[in-house]
Amino acid sequence: MTVSFMKKTIVLGLLAALPACSGGATSTDTQADPSGGFRGTLPPSVADSDKLALQDTKIDYTLALRSAALKLTGNYPTLAEIKQLQSASDQTAVYSQLIDSYINRPTFNQQILQFWRNTFQMGGTLPVQTPTGVVNVNLEFAPTYAAYLIAKGENFSKLVTADTGTCQTYNPATDTFTATPCSNPAAVGILTDQGVQAQFYSAMAFRRVRWFQEALLCSRFPAETTGAKVQYAGGVYNSPWDLKSTSGAINDPKALVDFQDTSSLICANCHSTMNHQAPLFANFGPTGMYVASAIQVKTPVAGNPDSKLVDWIPAGEPLSYRFGQPTPTVKEFGAAMAADPAFKACMATRIWNWAMSRGDVVVDQAILTPDFSAQLTQQVDAKNWNLKEFIRAVYKSAYFIRY
Ligand code: HEC
Repeated sequence: MTVSFMKKTIVLGLLAALPACSGGATSTDTQADPSGGFRGTLPPSVADSDKLALQDTKIDYTLALRSAALKLTGNYPTLAEIKQLQSASDQTAVYSQLIDSYINRPTFNQQILQFWRNTFQMGGTLPVQTPTGVVNVNLEFAPTYAAYLIAKGENFSKLVTADTGTCQTYNPATDTFTATPCSNPAAVGILTDQGVQAQFYSAMAFRRVRWFQEALLCSRFPAETTGAKVQYAGGVYNSPWDLKSTSGAINDPKALVDFQDTSSLICANCHSTMNHQAPLFANFGPTGMYVASAIQVKTPVAGNPDSKLVDWIPAGEPLSYRFGQPTPTVKEFGAAMAADPAFKACMATRIWNWAMSRGDVVVDQAILTPDFSAQLTQQVDAKNWNLKEFIRAVYKSAYFIRY
């Protein structure tokens, strides 16, 4: 079930959940909450979380402080902090000061780095076997750059646009970030990061574009579904791209992979977008290093040949972020992503889900209603993409302090 945070939909969720509860609770319901009630109708993973059942409307600063301290500092509030809050004549003010204090500590930077490691599925080093030996690829730069942008209160959209300073190291002992030279030339935020390219290396660079779509835009492929619906044996094609703009047997009976196949499922629903993007990332090899002279990924057919542009798209097709948005280079691709409202909504949703102990927006489908998502992105706009200030606002929000 999708837990939503709009008051309207909370009520709807409550109503929807009631029959299971009042119309004869099952044993699972009873196990989840012997006292019954709405929480008892939720699966344990939801009911046991501290911030999910937002039918609770009572303000509880002590509980909120506990949840905030765990997330923002990695530890419980101190006894002194709890006492200070409990005895405060103005609890709102003291809670607010404590949140500020948590966000100002070095432990906040460590927590936020951990958050991005978790989000990006990256960290540590990746040993990659090459003909000349094992290369240990640094998988810390991308999460560290994301943490750096937040720690420094910078414009977070630099994540996918910055051309310098993207390869930061972080020393938790001294709480310092240090810029180091990147191994790949012509940085475009984390999109050209060696670690990202190595971690998500795969046939035809598809896992890389999948990662951009899921980690940074918060939804799975298909990413474009606004085309005219055309019924085929295998299903409905609804991508805005012409089916023939992706390589396949209709254009070329000898195409190595038939992305125009519509017999069992419609490859091009996903691959129309993916195939116009992936060649942009095809020159990064298994260790994530950029090789200007040749495509480094393989086409997964007999003999595993190096991919050719025509394996993805017919000659003359524009490399593109989306239909009608040509992006001939990674730099333009990054700019298009930075300008995509879905990117802003995704970053806001990920931070919201973290604060509220919700699941992952892609894996667990812990999405927000469009209305609420729009409210959050307006806040990101109001803070000029400063996500540190956005985080501060989330932890002080009316939602966060209610149980
Ligand atoms: C629902 C979206 C979707 C559909 C439909 C789809 N694909 Fe894919 N395809 C993906 C994604 C995402 C990946 C990357 C998977 C990964 O590596 O994580 C992928 C990967 C691939 C790969 C590379 C596999 C490898 O070995 O790494 C090939 C080849 C491919 N798809 C061909 C096809 C063909 C042919 C069809 C139709 C029969 C098709 N796909 C249908 C989304 C889709």
